[in-house]
Amino acid sequence: MTGDRSSRKRYWDAQYTAYWKKRVEEASEGGTSSVIQGDPKTEDDSVYERVFAKTPTRAGSLLDVGCAWGRMFPLYKAMGLDVCGVDISESMIAEAMRAWSDDPDVKSIQVSEAESLPFEDAFFDNVAILAVFDATYQNEALGELLRVLKPGGHLYLTGKGHFYHKDDKPALDAEIGARRKGHPNYFTDVSKLRAQLADNGHEILASYYFPRRGDFASFTYVEEPPERFYEYFLVIQKGPSVGTYHNLAEAESQTYLDQARSGAD
Ligand SMILES: C[S@@+](CC[C@H](N)C(=O)[O-])C[C@H]1O[C@@H](n2cnc3c(N)ncnc32)[C@H](O)[C@@H]1O
Repeated sequence: MTGDRSSRKRYWDAQYTAYWKKRVEEASEGGTSSVIQGDPKTEDDSVYERVFAKTPTRAGSLLDVGCAWGRMFPLYKAMGLDVCGVDISESMIAEAMRAWSDDPDVKSIQVSEAESLPFEDAFFDNVAILAVFDATYQNEALGELLRVLKPGGHLYLTGKGHFYHKDDKPALDAEIGARRKGHPNYFTDVSKLRAQLADNGHEILASYYFPRRGDFASFTYVEEPPERFYEYFLVIQKGPSVGTYHNLAEAESQTYLDQARSGAD
């Protein structure tokens, strides 16, 4: 586990807003970041538009978990949705409030954590957790995301795989760098995630596996789960109930652990 819950909250509140703004501003297909030298740029909104075009949202409402300053709200509004946003960071939510509190399509914006959402069961037609799930305690967060979703509703979820290519140096550097700065970062065992979703009666409507760091930004993916990949995007349709989730993720990827072990040999 990376830090306790209050240090995690302080991290997101104090340090992260300026960094993520710069990453989103420079986001595009191709090229390397000037924020982290040599790192591929992060994905821009067009990547998300392509996923939503292929698997459209259900009509009605959408909860954006980890909404930051409401980066994705224009996209959701264009799809005709009523939008609610939550984020762990007070400063992100203050920005979102400044930008969106008068917008008739934005119904609520509040500080809240993915693992404990202030909404009734089966409240939303859609939930999105984009570039956030990897920062959460995933067993708890997944249960909450599914709890607030209506049966038949869609969950749009991205994360990082626990077993990426061992020569994916930007991925390994990012993992090590994140740990150094105390950035909460958990790597999902997606085969367990898929199995537990199926056992609990949920259906995966679309799958994208991005083999290497940077492939999300260029939308280079495969649909069948490969043995090794760095990031994933799943669109999940909720079954009749929520279910329970366990052992989904670890704070160190298997790739990092294997590399550390072989270095020690
Ligand atoms: C990488 S940013 C992504 C923001 C936005 N979803 C996007 O795609 O641009 C991660 C966001 O998740 C928020 N966050 C991190 N952990 C969270 C948690 N446990 N619950 C809710 N929000 C969280 C952070 O404050 C930050 O705004």
